[in-house]
Amino acid sequence: MARRCRLRVWMFLGVLCLLAVAVAARRNGEQGLERLTQADDQLSTKSPSSSSSSSPPETDSAAQKHAEDLVSEALAILRTLDPSPVRSQSARTDASRATLYGKALYYAKQAATVVLVHSPASLEEPADAPPPSPPKSAPVGGTGLFGKKLRSAVDKLEAAREMVGSYDAMFLLAQMNFYGNWSHPRNYLLAFELYKELADLSGNATAQSMVGFMYATGIGGAVERDQAKALLYHTFAALNGDTRSEMTVAFRHHTGIGTPRYCEDAAYYYKRVADKAIDFWRTGPPGGHALVKHSYRLADDEGGVYGEGASVVSSGMNAMRRGATTDSGKDLDDIIEYLDLMARKGDLSATFTLAKLYYDGSRNLPRDVRKAKSYFTSIAKQYWTRDSKTISGGPPGLERLAGKAAGYIGKMYLRGEGVAQDFTQASKWFRRGIQNGDASSQNGLGYMYLYGYGVKIDRQRAADLFLEAAEQDLPQAQINLGKLFIEHTDIEAAKRYFELAARHGTLEAYYYLAEIYNSRGKERSCIIATTYYKVVAERVEALQSPLAWANKAYQDGDRESALIGYMLAAEQGYEAGQANVAYLLDQEKSRLPLHHLLGPAPRKDTQKQELALIYWTRSAKQSNTDSLVKMGDYYLGGIGTEQDAEKAASCYQAASELQASAQALWNLGWMHENGVGVEQDFHLAKRYYDHALETNQEAYLPVTLSLMKLRVRSAWNTLSGGGVNAIGADPDPKPKPRPTLREFLKKWYEATPDDYDQDDIYGPSTENNNNNGADDDEGDEYYDTELLDDDLIESVIILALAAAVAALVYYRQQRQQNLARRQAEAAGVPLPHAPPPPPPLQEEEFAVPWGVPH
Ligand SMILES: *[C@@H]1O[C@H](CO)[C@@H](O)[C@H](O)[C@H]1NC(C)=O
Ligand SMILES: *[C@@H]1O[C@H](CO)[C@@H](O)[C@H](O)[C@H]1NC(C)=O
Repeated sequence: MARRCRLRVWMFLGVLCLLAVAVAARRNGEQGLERLTQADDQLSTKSPSSSSSSSPPETDSAAQKHAEDLVSEALAILRTLDPSPVRSQSARTDASRATLYGKALYYAKQAATVVLVHSPASLEEPADAPPPSPPKSAPVGGTGLFGKKLRSAVDKLEAAREMVGSYDAMFLLAQMNFYGNWSHPRNYLLAFELYKELADLSGNATAQSMVGFMYATGIGGAVERDQAKALLYHTFAALNGDTRSEMTVAFRHHTGIGTPRYCEDAAYYYKRVADKAIDFWRTGPPGGHALVKHSYRLADDEGGVYGEGASVVSSGMNAMRRGATTDSGKDLDDIIEYLDLMARKGDLSATFTLAKLYYDGSRNLPRDVRKAKSYFTSIAKQYWTRDSKTISGGPPGLERLAGKAAGYIGKMYLRGEGVAQDFTQASKWFRRGIQNGDASSQNGLGYMYLYGYGVKIDRQRAADLFLEAAEQDLPQAQINLGKLFIEHTDIEAAKRYFELAARHGTLEAYYYLAEIYNSRGKERSCIIATTYYKVVAERVEALQSPLAWANKAYQDGDRESALIGYMLAAEQGYEAGQANVAYLLDQEKSRLPLHHLLGPAPRKDTQKQELALIYWTRSAKQSNTDSLVKMGDYYLGGIGTEQDAEKAASCYQAASELQASAQALWNLGWMHENGVGVEQDFHLAKRYYDHALETNQEAYLPVTLSLMKLRVRSAWNTLSGGGVNAIGADPDPKPKPRPTLREFLKKWYEATPDDYDQDDIYGPSTENNNNNGADDDEGDEYYDTELLDDDLIESVIILALAAAVAALVYYRQQRQQNLARRQAEAAGVPLPHAPPPPPPLQEEEFAVPWGVPH
């Protein structure tokens, strides 16, 4: 008896632990997001001071002066504080998932959530209770020393605002309430009022832009979503020169959000941004600023929205070139370590690769031009003596690599990267490189002759050098040559060279092509021009993009700031921003479908779901296949929208067009098998399952299981004389012609009387978006070392956990029965001794190993 009792205590403790983990898991992820979409609390905390603005501001200049002093005093105080917003405690939970232990913990949390979320009321309470509402009108900054400083700064700003309606004070207060600078608590409603007041009083473009943004997204419940007002404010701001609003308005005209599609307007606004972008870029050293890319999809780090192997980025063809999009820090560290080892052993190409990696920099490897230079130099030293004599008898390949290295070193001297700018050195290295036939050296020296950097201007010499380099397919040289042709008004020839360069995704090439297509004349094509302008505008991120800030906030675990940053980017038209917002808001992420077995779905937040669907849709319209499949899921499950299985089916069909999404094919198989949204057809179902397997070999187990089940169903259907088309019954009826992605989208937006995204997709423009990373093609081959065993371990963990879950479910049932019996006995009610039947586990529900919602 004692032993049994002890056993029970242990098991109970185990369950408690899991419960705690589950609760923690749910809390962590949702804290920030909950607040964003919680309208009620903030609506009731109207700022007391907001009414004061109605009193006419004194125009007395002494008061003006005093107000200015107050603002500067406040700023002086604020500068002593930590500028970044409050960090939530859940920092770095995502990073920890990378380790094996982290993975185990992650799945344990998931499993625990699955088991415990639908427990009896007493257990459910902590998991599903509404989040504690933030105290109304919380004291700003708390009680600490920093809090007092912040409080006094805010008081000064409020005073300045009340005295003379100081715009600076309003603006600062609005930003603090919106972004949470200096740990000021966020209050979206107050921020909205301040921005709106400032926008209406002063026509300040930044404030207009923010008001537009808040109308567009309804963020924090500060205001009803209203696309017409959003466009109005953004247009004002854009005309006043606010870059973010220019992009937003351009994107809205481009895709038809809140307004009919109108290419001319899109081109007009995108051109304004692209001009600024190119001007900014040219303020850099010779050859322009180095462009750092921050637009990444969060989901790609986990193998895509549907996880490893099931998503487009990590299945089919893309599984081979994964590294390009998802070079996780860990993989990259391994690669660097390996290359370093080889380099020290004297492997030239490893040294060169390493140098190039450091020179270009990437998401997880910040640019380090000094390191790059030392590696390049170590190659060059093996080939040239100090006085430029060549050293013979080096290893094979040395001549070519030394030439390339010289090109890079010359470029660094020309641009002043990691060294002081020095044209003499630059030309020395370029000449060395040219001896060995290096294209980038030819281009570099040509550039110096063209603009007279340290040499006398010689345009003919420059043109000859550019031509030599262009023939080696160096995009920079092709552009330089194209520019020369433009000067001689030979647009045809120029365009040819720009198009060659654009294949490499070079910024300037896109810009010139856009200009050519946008000019009057027979070349004119608004659509192409807009598409290229958009690429240019989005590529120069330093000018306007909030993505760098959002990524940093996300890494620091500050999900609220991250979401805002991604939302700003999404509104500006960044596909990655749209995908990230949707991904963060998405509550349908579970890859363990078990919760379908365990009762009704947990409470959902409809506003979040609607927003998520909006951004999945926008991202899908920019040719993101996974987002299209997600759209299908939302329509199939009626999430954030009316349930519509047929729409879902057409989403999946459009997504399966390229045979890239195993998940879409699988879902189609499932829909045909069960006759959901399409006519039931076992034969087609099998074909789709087979296709899913072709797309992704890792789907072997689930596909095999469902095929087995499908065969049984089909056979039974045939035996019992059912009317469903059986497997292999007739010689391959051609599957119904699937609509192509474009047809589908066209039909869709024509048919949907939805004031949000109503329109059709025009022309082939969306295909050319840069979001498939034309610029990260280089160097893919270095990332191909997939770590297979990691996946294997993961599978084993999942299997083990699944078993554990099953055991827990069984145990919980037993326990509940016992409990019920004991309670009943205590209450004196006789109880039938037969246990209640186990919950029905229908076969359909087992058939959805990747979380197909139904
Ligand atoms: C808007 O107002 C703030 C504060 O007065 C100022 O710092 C900012 O530059 C203004 N923005 C524009 C675009 O004028
Ligand atoms: C507040 O923080 C945001 C985001 O970091 C930043 O863009 C903004 O300039 C900050 N505002 C002030 C007044 O520092």
